[in-house]
Amino acid sequence: MDKLVAQGGNILSGHIAVSGAKNAVLPMMTAALLAPGTYTLTNVPNLRDTRTMSKLLEIIGARVNLDSGDMTIDTSAVNNPEAPYDLVKTMRASFYVLGPLLARFQRAKVSLPGGCAWGPRPVDLHLKGLESLGADISLEGGYIVATCDRLTGTDFTLDISSVGATGNILMAAVLADGVTTIENAAREPEIASLANFLNSMGADIRNVGSDFLEIHGVGELHPTDYEVIPDRIEAGTYLVVGAMAGENLEISPVIPRHLKAVIDKVKRAGASVQAEENTLIVTRVTAINPIDITTAIYPGYPTDMQAQWMAFMATAGGSAVITEEIYHDRFTHVAELNRLGANISLEGNVAVVKGVRKLIGAPVMSTDIRASASLILAALVAEGRTDIQRIYHIDRGYERIEQKLQGIGADIVRVSE
Ligand code: EPZ
Repeated sequence: MDKLVAQGGNILSGHIAVSGAKNAVLPMMTAALLAPGTYTLTNVPNLRDTRTMSKLLEIIGARVNLDSGDMTIDTSAVNNPEAPYDLVKTMRASFYVLGPLLARFQRAKVSLPGGCAWGPRPVDLHLKGLESLGADISLEGGYIVATCDRLTGTDFTLDISSVGATGNILMAAVLADGVTTIENAAREPEIASLANFLNSMGADIRNVGSDFLEIHGVGELHPTDYEVIPDRIEAGTYLVVGAMAGENLEISPVIPRHLKAVIDKVKRAGASVQAEENTLIVTRVTAINPIDITTAIYPGYPTDMQAQWMAFMATAGGSAVITEEIYHDRFTHVAELNRLGANISLEGNVAVVKGVRKLIGAPVMSTDIRASASLILAALVAEGRTDIQRIYHIDRGYERIEQKLQGIGADIVRVSE
């Protein structure tokens, strides 16, 4: 098992590159199941999650090849609309194959995803949406079995603006008969990019980027080529590390408006942030203002940046309140940050971070992608050495993270135990 070993205290400067967005490319990969042929995706990050999704597509009958950021997906020979438990249990996003397989084959058998580090993550909204399009859904031995004669356009309102459910329903509706509307749709940039990708395949999705999507079903779709948008959460993670230890740290490519909520908070904490066309330049703040956050759906402050904010506020000059409204128990990083000397207390879905003078290095353990990121940020400012174990979590969502951080002056190495 690998671990990362970091010595805190270095100033971080220079340029750090942002890879393609994990949460944009994963649904695009499954959308390639909707029409046979060869697709080329560029700016694809080489992550555990994209490798897992490639394996899943190959089990379904596609051929996938990723070579220095360029991915080709050939779905001509797809013939097995089944997603097995042993893959789905490792990555919840595997559930994105359900909508496309149902739309193309009128049947699909997909394992229910398990929970994750911070609790159960239901898929009831995915299923309600597909049923509303005319699918028959049953649960058989831990698998969702979905069948339909033909999907028919419908007006559907999401009780919660779920990113995954919006993606699955969208991918099913593009080939349905007639018009589908999705009210309270997720507005995350990754969903807008999925809709743009589907439209480049010949779909007819309107109001892209809004919370009211209107999909006019088409007879067939065709393969396309597409560039993946930059990862706003990876970029946000480096923005926070720059606010903690940066000196004119350049972060690109980014789309600054995708990070507006995070940029506003980092500025209010006292860091200097310049946003240019596709670049952010950030310099650290030495006396950190304690700034509260409450996570929300896009364009609010993202839940995927909550743990990173907690690491930042750990050495603020006062108390910051962090309220997690998306996943009420997404706090497995609190105990690990407290091992580094942070003073964080939890009450339900609210964490109070009492700023301490400094963090002290110690052995800590990753529990999920963004928790791992918060431990790395803390380790880079802690006094002394920090060993971060179980970093297979970080490898799910951050491409070559230690090399990228070494490139801007961080003292961090990967060690095989
Ligand atoms: C996506 O997960 C992201 N993953 C997550 O990022 C992100 O945290 C999340 O959206 C919220 O922004 C990918 O895009 C692959 P949701 P998803 O459905 O789609 C509830 C990362 O770190 N819900 O928007 O699974 C759910 O319990 C990952 O990259 C239902 O109740 O999230 C949660 O409280 C972690 N029923 C809320 O909605 C459902 O059917 C939001 O979940 C579906 C969701």
